[in-house]
Amino acid sequence: MKPNDTTRRSFLKTTAAVAATGLVAANAHAQGREGEIKVGLIGCGGRGTGAAEQALKADRNVKLWAMADAFDDRLQSSLTRLQNVRDIANKIDVPAARRHVGFDGYNQVIASCDVVLLCTPPHFRPMHIRAAVQANKHIFAEKPCAVDAAGVRSVLETCIEARRRNLSVVSGLCLRHDNGFKDTVQRIHDGAIGDIVAMQANDLRGPIWRRERAEGWSDMTWQMRNWYYYTWLSGDFNVEQHVHYLDVCAWLMRDTYPVRCYGTGGRQVRTGAEFGHIYDHFSVVYEWENGAKLFSHCRQQTGCRNDNSGHALGKRGTALLTERRRGLVLRTDGNERVYEGPANDMYQTEHDVLFASIRNARPINNGEYMAKSTLMAIMGRMATYTGKLITWDMAWNSKEDLTPAKYEMGMMPMPEVARPGITKFI
Ligand SMILES: NC(=O)c1ccc[n+]([C@@H]2O[C@H](COP(=O)([O-])OP(=O)(O)OC[C@H]3O[C@@H](n4cnc5c(N)ncnc54)[C@H](O)[C@@H]3O)[C@@H](O)[C@H]2O)c1
Repeated sequence: MKPNDTTRRSFLKTTAAVAATGLVAANAHAQGREGEIKVGLIGCGGRGTGAAEQALKADRNVKLWAMADAFDDRLQSSLTRLQNVRDIANKIDVPAARRHVGFDGYNQVIASCDVVLLCTPPHFRPMHIRAAVQANKHIFAEKPCAVDAAGVRSVLETCIEARRRNLSVVSGLCLRHDNGFKDTVQRIHDGAIGDIVAMQANDLRGPIWRRERAEGWSDMTWQMRNWYYYTWLSGDFNVEQHVHYLDVCAWLMRDTYPVRCYGTGGRQVRTGAEFGHIYDHFSVVYEWENGAKLFSHCRQQTGCRNDNSGHALGKRGTALLTERRRGLVLRTDGNERVYEGPANDMYQTEHDVLFASIRNARPINNGEYMAKSTLMAIMGRMATYTGKLITWDMAWNSKEDLTPAKYEMGMMPMPEVARPGITKFI
């Protein structure tokens, strides 16, 4: 897959291949859905609980029907929180028999629901997306959608199949649903600042949560509880977090992707065992085929200047895209324009459009940009960990597969911290 190949093109190739394997096409979703829609939540943490609330508010006749989490306490606390949210308590029907705990619980949730909310750490996303598509279920998939190229390839392939089956796949790359971002990107596409020559994407913030190891926890239990700090689970934070603004830049570039990148980064402040083996800062320079460059920075360190923003420098002006202001600034030839239209809750909007698409039989499929933007972030990590120039083709064809030997709460080796110049590209 070249950076600018579209899945529509690959779709034609893959459709023939899939048909040849005898996979049955599902036409059940070709007509609008009436009646109750059963929703299943897989990964009942902070975001999953929020996504379930938004799903339940998105449609009149919808029920939270089944839940799965790796840990019982997470599932129970999510359920309790949801039961205490006004206006949705009567839309929750998850008896003990539909609460599934462990690595395999996702199968039962998928089997019993119409729509699944995939909100575990990203490592599990490709496997969950595949199972949901194979069972003909609509999907909300939190970002990022994978942690390695093998996962990205799998997601793209299954999303192509989802399109064939008329299934909706809505991505949690929520900035694409923000009114202000949409307006500004549209105006840039309409030529407001001329052709883009350079961009900057910042995700500079302080530290985030972590879990101390408790007595009796196996290695795997600790890594799962403390998942942010293990690349096999989170992708590292330039993938887990910074994918939002990398995706905005790809969107600005009309959903085209960089052909190469190089990067620098390391682990300067978060050095203790509780921080696993991920980095705490990355700077990556991405380059597009037409020479446009993106200077990307992310950092999670205490006591430093914070900034979450995207900048676009065009031949006739510049634009600033930032969540904090909601109003977005665009300067063209000295004129400044701030977005002043209605603000929206992008987290709610992404569920509103998902459920409307199911009711109206107009499937939405965000598979292509969610997969490619995830690969763009992974490509930056590959460049930073190895210290090498990484092309899109190298990243796409990478043999790296971060899947552990087995999913079991037992022994699990601690991966080494990557060392640029020494760590090999795989
Ligand atoms: N779009 C956004 O703005 C946004 C915001 C926050 C988080 N997220 C994304 O949502 C996802 C979850 O993040 P979070 O903050 O909710 O983390 P979290 O730790 O609060 O929740 C993750 C939950 O998944 C469970 N889990 C782990 N492996 C599982 C498995 N194999 N099967 C079932 N459950 C499993 C965990 O036990 C935990 O309860 C991440 O991909 C994150 O990047 C997106």
